[in-house]
Amino acid sequence: MTLRVIQWATGGLGRAAIGQIRLHPDLELVGCWVHSPGKVGRDAGELAGIGPIGVIATDSIDEILALDADCVLYSPLMPNPKEVAAILRSGKNVVTPLGWFWPTAEEKERMVAPALEGGVTLHGTGIDPGGATEQQPLFFTGLSSAITFVRGEEYSDIRTYDAPDVVRHLMGFGQSPEQAMHGPMLALLDNGFDQSVRMCLDTLGFADAEIRRSREVAVATAPIDSPIGEIQPGQVAAQRFAWEAFIGDAKVVRVAVNWLMGDENLDPPWKFGEGGVRFEVEVKGDPDCRVTIHGWHPSSVAAGLERNPGIVVTAAHCVNSIPYVCAAEPGLLTFVDMPVVTGRAHPDLAR
Ligand SMILES: NC(=O)c1ccc[n+]([C@@H]2O[C@H](COP(=O)([O-])OP(=O)(O)OC[C@H]3O[C@@H](n4cnc5c(N)ncnc54)[C@H](OP(=O)(O)O)[C@@H]3O)[C@@H](O)[C@H]2O)c1
Repeated sequence: MTLRVIQWATGGLGRAAIGQIRLHPDLELVGCWVHSPGKVGRDAGELAGIGPIGVIATDSIDEILALDADCVLYSPLMPNPKEVAAILRSGKNVVTPLGWFWPTAEEKERMVAPALEGGVTLHGTGIDPGGATEQQPLFFTGLSSAITFVRGEEYSDIRTYDAPDVVRHLMGFGQSPEQAMHGPMLALLDNGFDQSVRMCLDTLGFADAEIRRSREVAVATAPIDSPIGEIQPGQVAAQRFAWEAFIGDAKVVRVAVNWLMGDENLDPPWKFGEGGVRFEVEVKGDPDCRVTIHGWHPSSVAAGLERNPGIVVTAAHCVNSIPYVCAAEPGLLTFVDMPVVTGRAHPDLAR
């Protein structure tokens, strides 16, 4: 049975998802919501760069809610819980990279009611949160025992992230260290990475832990070329955000992102090191294990601005989850409640 899917927003993630839905044997794109007035009335396949597919983009929420569909892949700029609740009430499952990875009891209560009303399921997933910062560490703990520590950490060249307003105004790159430290980014990331840490703590059965958040910045020591313009000496050119859980003095979980505008001319002189840009997963137990993931970063700044594999990975995790979410009992589904989510064979090689 083919599942009917609506793509909500066509940013980098939505565009990648449209192409992936087309290649998935169990899925069919039947609708597309857009925010930008210039995209209304255009073919979703053309917006995604795969040629026309006969699905016309609309900015009408009512039209989308009235469509007969099994699932909405919800990926606008910011989450709107009221909007998500309305989609659920309309009888459509929701998969999203914008939250509900490991919701608090209060957040869960708020969304379970509309999900039950619509007889459908809400699931939050992605790359981090939703992948490298909890799904992957937890997966690898299954091959060790007596776990004492897990870590999921990203090391990225942020010049490859094609969202200039986000990079400058939300993340605080190119600002003074004082401006950046008082900016909204730690609070914005907190919503996601706090869930990653709590998912690890709760699932592994750690005792009550204190979660400490930190933010460090490095400034340029010479002009650095970047897609948001030249970063001047003294302006923020690299940042490190970390969420760490402690039981007494023992650090039991670390989730962190290291975002650098390249690794030259920085003070402090942070480096990617020999591993280069990567994701790292670490488990300490019996035995310890360490996994480095390459391929989720672009080969160059230009390639990343064209199509960023990190965004493609996030879209794939959402798209691949859709059949499992549609088959689940109504309510809210987290990664630990699901069977193993896999991709599907390329159409040229499929049975
Ligand atoms: N969990 C994870 O691992 C993960 C990873 C990557 C991204 N994300 C999140 O996923 C979301 C989408 O990422 P992206 O890379 O696709 O972002 P993006 O390229 O910035 O696209 C966001 C899209 O949202 C729509 N939009 C813009 N302003 C809006 C507004 N005021 N209200 C409603 N919609 C608006 C636009 O859609 P149209 O172009 O169709 O008009 C825009 O293209 C972001 O919130 C991002 O933080 C999560």
